[in-house]
Amino acid sequence: MTQLFVGTFIDTPSAGELRIRSDHLLAISPEGYISHLAPLHSDSSQLLLSSLPTSTIPTEIPPHSFFLPSFTDLHLHAPQYLFNGTGLDLPLLEWLERYAYKAEERIDGSRELAERVYERLVRRLLDNGTGCVSFFGSIGVESNLILAKKMQELGLRGFIGKLSMDQSPRPTYGESSASSSLQSIAQFLDSLESYLSTYPSHERLVQPIITPRFIPVCSDELLVGLQKLAKQRDVRIQSHMCEGRDQMDMVMKRGKRDHEYWDELGFLGPKTLQAHVTYLDEEMIPLVKDRQVTMAHCPLSNAYLSEKQFPLREAIDNSLSVGLGTDIAGGYSPSIQTQMRQAVIISRMREGARCESMNCSFAESAHKEGAGNHLKVDWKESLYLATRGGKKGMGLGGCFEVGMEFDAQLIELANKDTPTGTGALDLFDLTSDTKLDDDSWTENLERWWCVGDERNRKGMWVQGRKVA
Ligand code: GUN
Ligand code: FE
Repeated sequence: MTQLFVGTFIDTPSAGELRIRSDHLLAISPEGYISHLAPLHSDSSQLLLSSLPTSTIPTEIPPHSFFLPSFTDLHLHAPQYLFNGTGLDLPLLEWLERYAYKAEERIDGSRELAERVYERLVRRLLDNGTGCVSFFGSIGVESNLILAKKMQELGLRGFIGKLSMDQSPRPTYGESSASSSLQSIAQFLDSLESYLSTYPSHERLVQPIITPRFIPVCSDELLVGLQKLAKQRDVRIQSHMCEGRDQMDMVMKRGKRDHEYWDELGFLGPKTLQAHVTYLDEEMIPLVKDRQVTMAHCPLSNAYLSEKQFPLREAIDNSLSVGLGTDIAGGYSPSIQTQMRQAVIISRMREGARCESMNCSFAESAHKEGAGNHLKVDWKESLYLATRGGKKGMGLGGCFEVGMEFDAQLIELANKDTPTGTGALDLFDLTSDTKLDDDSWTENLERWWCVGDERNRKGMWVQGRKVA
């Protein structure tokens, strides 16, 4: 059945552009796609309303609530939720061996544990406004299928990367050869396809993504095989690229810089997602742009595990494809809202360092001759990355346009019983007859962006279905 909503719809069609549509009518097709979006009093909306059975009644969004596209998390290690928030004082490679590989091994060793951890994770993500995720799983086929089932059942969209790694430093957790690793990924692709075939195509929320963990744990034979498989089966690819010094040094010992290694093996293309890329520089930008690689910026994780911070301002200015990632458990917060804030904070710290290096203040830098471009990113740009930016990179929608999947969150700023604001937002005085114009929506939205939380989220929809 067609669903109808009337009220305010806010999205970010491009970086920095905030689109506020009040008094609009949105229709969702029975398959979960947006089939109409126009002012309520327009001819097209009135025509639509008159053509539908009178039993199709629009749901009115209350005056100080709005629909926003749900968030997309482009990088999250699902099994690492088991030890999330542990040991982040360690350097990356030590942290992987002390915690990450062990946790993944435990998940692969217990069906019951995988069910428990993945169910909690999926619920937590939906509570936090995340409706689409690109997951790194573990090596085991079975536990990745458990994750797929939880996503289908609880209504989370996303990509599942069964890990491929035939050069693991941990004797009890790894794949014994390139050929057994390739067999295992083929088995995963087949099993997932067969599981999903029980759903009609618009209800299939999960896709596989081929996932060599990172170059240091993969042989050339495995990498070549995975690249071929991705082409043959037309499956997306994800990995880690240029995350930190030790990891890049390990690749250098094999004769090339990390990004060159990936590129020579044919891994960099429009269906490739690379996490971190904190060492993105002037030399790498044209390559990443030309190959149309999407990057997952994981600002909280990078602050702990990377020596360098991702040059987000430069990436946006060069129109590179970027979204946000939590990198659980490299970043401890499952919230993309936290990542938006962290991305802005890091950009401002980079700008502060730039000003200091020129011996001038923020204010002076705007007028200083030869100062070049600033490095700050603002909240609207971060909202784009969290919604449209991440989704676009994965071939999906991410804003409210006819034809896009309806993946949305309903956010309440205030309601008639609490006009001062909902949750941590006790900043307003919005009586139910206060009508917000675009400027006041923008101001209030920024306040929600800064201090809002789960209490403001009154519902989540994925593919038109209410899931939380
Ligand atoms: N590089 C390879 N594996 C990992 C991982 O699990 N987390 C992070 N942050 N980096 C990695
Ligand atoms: Fe990671």
